[in-house]
Amino acid sequence: MLLSPRLKAIADLVPPSRTIADIGTDHGHIPLYLIRQGRAEYAIAADISPGSLDKAVQLIQQYNMGHCMEARLGSGLSVIAPGEADTIIIAGMGGILIREILEEGEEAARSAHILILQPMIGQEELRRWLLNNGYSIVDEELAAEGDRIYEIIAAKPDKEARGYENEIYYDIGWKLVEKKHPLLKEWIQKKIRSLSEIVRNLGNAKTQSASERKHELMEKIRMYKEVYDSCFR
Ligand SMILES: C[S@@+](CC[C@H](N)C(=O)[O-])C[C@H]1O[C@@H](n2cnc3c(N)ncnc32)[C@H](O)[C@@H]1O
Repeated sequence: MLLSPRLKAIADLVPPSRTIADIGTDHGHIPLYLIRQGRAEYAIAADISPGSLDKAVQLIQQYNMGHCMEARLGSGLSVIAPGEADTIIIAGMGGILIREILEEGEEAARSAHILILQPMIGQEELRRWLLNNGYSIVDEELAAEGDRIYEIIAAKPDKEARGYENEIYYDIGWKLVEKKHPLLKEWIQKKIRSLSEIVRNLGNAKTQSASERKHELMEKIRMYKEVYDSCFR
């Protein structure tokens, strides 16, 4: 089974694990892949939606994986006991929803060795929450699929974790800058283009809030350019 570049990049960040839990699994492709690769001994594929979970149930049956894969219906981390999964994957949701799932299932989240998180939006808020709530970010990945570049964050419970000194690293993951990720150049260029487009649309902002927003965005563009220049010039 071939994974899309986004799913493959998520799976590639998963270390050899005893039990992985894929929360919001939908199609179930990530847990199946990890089992077939021998990267996980056991996989729990969980989803809040019966319709979504049914796809994972079918997949488990189709590949005869009932002895090492299990589908569980329920919200967030309520489906696993603390300590049951050493790796937790939460992918394809908004950063705020991922944060809520980690908050509500705090015991299970903190007892895992690693969390592999793939927020579709709200990446900045998620990084900020992780670093200010006892998780360190140990790695980050980018994956290009279609015309989008997806961000994937690997985090670990860490009592010593603290926030970044430079605010821009909540937007541009520090780990991506540190390893000069091959897609980082294109990703920053895309960000600058889309922020510049919003600034252009704000035009000659008349209201105070529009004018403040324009200045905020221009400051952000300046910070993106600073990181770009420090990495690629
Ligand atoms: C867009 S799909 C992502 C599927 C897969 N993880 C991926 O990255 O391709 C989001 C899935 O998350 C599920 N979901 C949303 N909120 C959830 C929650 N609180 N707990 C468990 N699953 C949830 C949805 O039912 C849906 O199947």
